[in-house]
Amino acid sequence: MKKLLYAAALLMGACTAQPQKQAGTPATPVEMSEQIQLVAPDSVGGTSINEALAARRSWREYSAEKLSLEELSGVLWAAAGINRADGKLTAPSALALYPIRVYALFEEGIYLYDAQTMTLDRAAEGDHRTAAGRQPFVEQAPLNLIYIADLQAYDGKGIPAEQAVNLCGMDAAGYAENVNLYTAGHGLRSITRGSADAEALLRILQLDPARYRFILAQSVGK
Ligand SMILES: Cc1cc2nc3c(=O)[nH]c(=O)nc-3n(C[C@H](O)[C@H](O)[C@H](O)COP(=O)(O)O)c2cc1C
Repeated sequence: MKKLLYAAALLMGACTAQPQKQAGTPATPVEMSEQIQLVAPDSVGGTSINEALAARRSWREYSAEKLSLEELSGVLWAAAGINRADGKLTAPSALALYPIRVYALFEEGIYLYDAQTMTLDRAAEGDHRTAAGRQPFVEQAPLNLIYIADLQAYDGKGIPAEQAVNLCGMDAAGYAENVNLYTAGHGLRSITRGSADAEALLRILQLDPARYRFILAQSVGK
């Protein structure tokens, strides 16, 4: 019930939200507290999907300019936000198991995205961007996303472990490509990345490697 009420409120918010990148669009700075309350997704902004597809590419140069709260909210909604009254997401998931957790790494800390409450909840303090990739631009990008699978979502499903990991990879690729198209359509930059220090990330996040698996990373910025 809570989920349904939330999704209805979210959809109403989405219908009334102003498009981004228009004159007068708010560009609220993000306050890095323990919990960051994101804003309702912008369901009508950006370029057309065809223009976003035409503009999509992998970016390896980033300025230090931070994303606004509206941009950050949009990126996370594109990755794994709720877009329907039944609580399902902008990205598909095999068997609707949703094993992928989305973590956002900033200079100030690592946050876990909660699509239901539209919040980022701090999971670790400090700058851990060195663990998020092996290329210099990773530390310049103001935002890095990491996609971590909770393999427990497959418990009791009768799916062999190797296939479950493959399906997690496909889920995460969908999340990441949603972000790539969102950024391409909103004047931002991004790149999907397979390279990161998976061991260090799990250690920093205090996640048991027997249960959790680093799947993908992504840098986002301007
Ligand atoms: C699963 C996956 C992992 C990738 N990992 C990296 C990476 O670690 N570092 C990198 O610079 N590019 C990475 N890329 C980006 C590819 O190099 C890029 O998509 C490819 O060169 C084609 O260029 P384009 O995306 O601009 O069309 C990855 C892409 C995918 C789909």
